[in-house]
Amino acid sequence: MGTVAARVPDQDVIRAAIGMAVRAPSIHNSQPWRFRVGAGTVHLLADHTRRLGATDPDGKDLLISCGAALHHLRTGLAALGWLAVTDRLPDPDRPSRLATVELWPRRAGGADLALADAITRRHSDRRAYQPLSVDDLVVRELTRTASAFGVAVRPMNADAHHHLASAIIEADAHQRADPSYVYELARWTGRRTDLDDGVPSTATQLGFRQFDTSALRAAPATTPVAGMGTLLVLGTSDDDPLAQLRAGEATSAVLLAATGLGLASCPLTQPLEVPAIRAMLRTSVLDGLLNPQMVIRVGWPPTRPHPFPSSRRRPVADVLEHDDDEGAENLGE
Ligand SMILES: Cc1cc2nc3c(=O)[nH]c(=O)nc-3n(C[C@H](O)[C@H](O)[C@H](O)COP(=O)(O)O)c2cc1C
Repeated sequence: MGTVAARVPDQDVIRAAIGMAVRAPSIHNSQPWRFRVGAGTVHLLADHTRRLGATDPDGKDLLISCGAALHHLRTGLAALGWLAVTDRLPDPDRPSRLATVELWPRRAGGADLALADAITRRHSDRRAYQPLSVDDLVVRELTRTASAFGVAVRPMNADAHHHLASAIIEADAHQRADPSYVYELARWTGRRTDLDDGVPSTATQLGFRQFDTSALRAAPATTPVAGMGTLLVLGTSDDDPLAQLRAGEATSAVLLAATGLGLASCPLTQPLEVPAIRAMLRTSVLDGLLNPQMVIRVGWPPTRPHPFPSSRRRPVADVLEHDDDEGAENLGE
């Protein structure tokens, strides 16, 4: 019997997969990740120099963003014919090493290609969505998608929508009273459209972070807020780095599945940055049992043509390093 030669992907495949990974959503498009490549492995590393100190003091959003990049990476690899066997937080002595992915050849299926295609079409759509509800069957499908990552999804009912709506108005006022938050928001958002990171002005003009508060105040208390779509809360039983990484993977999986179904979507963590709102969601939407990690808006997109280009990303070369490169792994810790 002959032996089966181990195959490793060539550098073009790795670069193409990382090119898809960096399309992942991230807080303020900060892209707080790096990829360290060895023979047949890719390590996902956190880049703590890109953590948003005022918006995300405990680094939860950084981990969720990196989790989304991990899922995008695995999706890209699957479409390119590689199974990504993943070890999360593999080394307690190297906390910036968030995941090690080992690659095994595997034929790509139609579902892999469809999911990778959704990466190229997804973007955060902050516009008002059509006033059509998202069918329960769709919500069930998105719930099933997230459960593969150990993450629960609960849609908010009309009451919770309204609780959240007024809480967001308060949160926004509270956050804007903090000069370091305002500075960070100004530094990272409403930026020139030719920059490789941050949120471009073309996207912020459409209601970045804040909802349209006049619409929120005017809506009758028994109906979901017009244009907001369905709000899904993602919750985990633990609230540690592994849970946040998993929540990021589930966020990516839900967003890509929603894109595949033709839905518009936008991740939101602004409401969760205020402890009182986090506690309210835990009690009123997650039965007091789970920790809220993410809110995702989903809905049917407006029929008008797409008004803004995708936000940009840093080039792959800026986030790629090799196992034998010199240099510290724990950037900015
Ligand atoms: C952890 C996390 C939190 C986010 N929070 C918000 C938010 O509160 N409000 C918002 O409008 N967008 C939010 N976003 C979306 C990002 O701004 C968006 O992903 C980024 O600007 C890149 O744009 P894209 O998603 O269109 O590719 C969040 C994304 C992530 C991953």
